Formats: sequence, structure tokens, C-alpha cells
Amino acid sequence: MTTELAPVPAPVAAPAERPRIFSGIQPSGVVHLGNDLGAIRNYVRLQSEYEAIYCIVDYHALTSTHDAAVLRVRTREMAAALLALGLDPARCTLFVQSHRPEHTELAWLLATVTPVSWLERTPTYKEKKLQQPDDVNHALLTYPILQAADIVIYKASRVPVGKDQSAHLELSREIVRTFNSRYGDTFPEPRAVFTDAPTVLGTDGVRKMSKSLGNTIEVLADPAVIRKQVMSMVTDTKRILRTDHGRPEVCNVCQLHRFFGPDWEEIQEGERTARTGCVDTKNLLADRIVARYAAARERYLELIAHPAEVDGILEEGADRLRPKAEATMDEVREKMGLR
Ligand code: AMP
Ligand code: TRP
Repeated sequence: MTTELAPVPAPVAAPAERPRIFSGIQPSGVVHLGNDLGAIRNYVRLQSEYEAIYCIVDYHALTSTHDAAVLRVRTREMAAALLALGLDPARCTLFVQSHRPEHTELAWLLATVTPVSWLERTPTYKEKKLQQPDDVNHALLTYPILQAADIVIYKASRVPVGKDQSAHLELSREIVRTFNSRYGDTFPEPRAVFTDAPTVLGTDGVRKMSKSLGNTIEVLADPAVIRKQVMSMVTDTKRILRTDHGRPEVCNVCQLHRFFGPDWEEIQEGERTARTGCVDTKNLLADRIVARYAAARERYLELIAHPAEVDGILEEGADRLRPKAEATMDEVREKMGLR
């Protein structure tokens, strides 16, 4: 990246005992610019400084996807995408949530310290109820408890995510506090780590970029798809004529340029003075996005063509985590009187 990322607290421990971070991502079938600028590039950056664990959350995906074949394909595609974007299995652990079923056992135990009212007031639950009114399944409500379990089963203290996960992280902390006060100090309180693009807006220029809103720029897609998505972006709605002066501060295309070159100021100036038109600025952004992700796209296609390699990395990741997950479960069962 050409821009500086927001600073994260320096790890205090020696490399041998690096603080642990954890993040999860849904196998949604698409990796969009919001995912990468908001979260994945922090996964990549932090994997050398921290003991990093990254999880493809297929259990969570089941709250909205009920097609087994689709879920299976998307899980592998997400793994390939994360590896292509820079996750290095030698430096981090990448695995699939359902390969470590201890997460669901811990989620049940944490559910016993979580008031229903906390879950009902979660913003994402309210959104999902509107998005899928015919499928308000119980797992949608308990979704944040499983997310808390994902993090705390490895006693991770930092969680790289986009801003939309703030409420979930707050809930995780509340669950941890309640558990610790009831059963004794067991889990650290997890905190979010953001990039300098904690909320990336979608091509509509008003709502956050999200697959379910259909306003994404798919960074690993065919360049023609990327171009089409960028060209469809809503710019400054008050700039009607090519000669009208633009307002780069409200134009999402201009704002995104910040992450794609050293000449952001110049690009904004061009818009402000009408030296450049919206189409020019979009074309340039499309070129730069395509160029930025070209190598990752190649790696992605290569990995997708070698599924056994991807599956091997995921299996190894889950195996590596088994002792950690089991140790936490032993401690928790003991503390809760299940032994
Ligand atoms: P999801 O695809 O919802 O599983 O999101 C994966 C990661 O990307 C999470 O850490 C999200 O917070 C982050 N993310 C998703 N959409 C955006 C966005 N529009 N802007 C910034 N971060 C995002
Ligand atoms: N809820 C997160 C999302 O939709 C995914 C997730 C599940 C997660 N478990 C997690 C993120 C644990 C961080 C930590 O993006």
C-alpha cells in the first residue's frame, strides 16, 4: 500500500510469545474492496508481528446459506483468495471453523452467560431480520456468541476487522467480562484493530460495500468485471456537466484513489477545478485496481486449479489449533463444573 496504515499497539512480548490475534471471514463467494481495504490487508500486515489465526467461518455462513454445494465451493474459494492476497501459511494459521468443532461447544457454554436482550439489540441481527424475513433462524440471534467463542477459544486479544464488526466485538467483551466475573479470570477482553479504511462505501456511494447490497468491486474478478463495477460508481451527484466543479470530499471514486497512488491530492484538485471529468477519474481508478490485484488474481486462479493444495493448508491449520482449543475447553469445563 502506498498510504500509511493506522498504527496498532506495538506487541510487547518477545517474538517467541507474540500476542495472539484472531479474525474470521465468511465464505461469501466474493472478496470485495471493502474486505481487503478494511480487513484483509491488516491480516497480511499483522501475521508477522503477531501469532495470527484466521478462520473461514462456515458455521456462521449457514445462518444465510443453505446450499451445501455452494458453501463447500465458497469455503475453498475464500481460502484461495486469502492466500492469494498474502496470507502465508508459514507465518499464520488459516483454517475452517467447522474443522474445530470445539468452537460450537464453547458457544453453548458462553450462551449460558449471555442475556437474550444483548443479542436482540445487536444491529446486525436487526438488519438480517429485514434482509431475510422468511429465514429468521435462531443461529442469526446467537451469531455473536459463536463469534465470541471463535476469538476467546484461542485467548486472542486483538481482532483485525472492519468497522461494521464493532458491535460484535463489544458484545464479545461483555460476554468475556460476565464469564470472568462468574467463573474467574479466564479470557482476555478482545479489541478490534482497524485499518485506515474502516468503512469502505459501495459503488452506490452511500452504503457500506457489501455483497448482500450488490454494490461491490470484486478485487479478484476478471478485469472486465472490475472495470464495469468501477464505471458504475456513483460520483458527486451535484456534478452534472463535465465543466461543473466537483466535490472530491463527497465523491467515493476520489476517496478510493487515496489507497491507489501517491497523487491523491492532485486527483482531488483535478476534480475540484474540473480539469478532469468523473469518467477520467473512474478509468484511472479501474486501471489502478486492476493493476494492484493482477498478481493476486493470477495466484488465485492457480490455487483454485490446485484444490488439494488449498485443502491441505486448511487441514494443517485446524490440526495445529487442536491442542490450543482442547486446552481452553478443559479449563472452561473444569471451571463450570462439568468435570
Ligand atoms: P464479511 O465479508 O462480512 O465476512 O467481512 C469480512 C471482513 O471485511 C470483516 O472484518 C468486515 O468488517 C470487513 N468488511 C466488510 N465489508 C467492509 C466494508 N465495506 N468496509 C470495511 N470493511 C469491511
Ligand atoms: N462476523 C464476522 C463478519 O461477518 C465474521 C466473524 C466470525 C469474525 N467470527 C469472527 C470476525 C471472529 C472476527 C472474529 O465479518
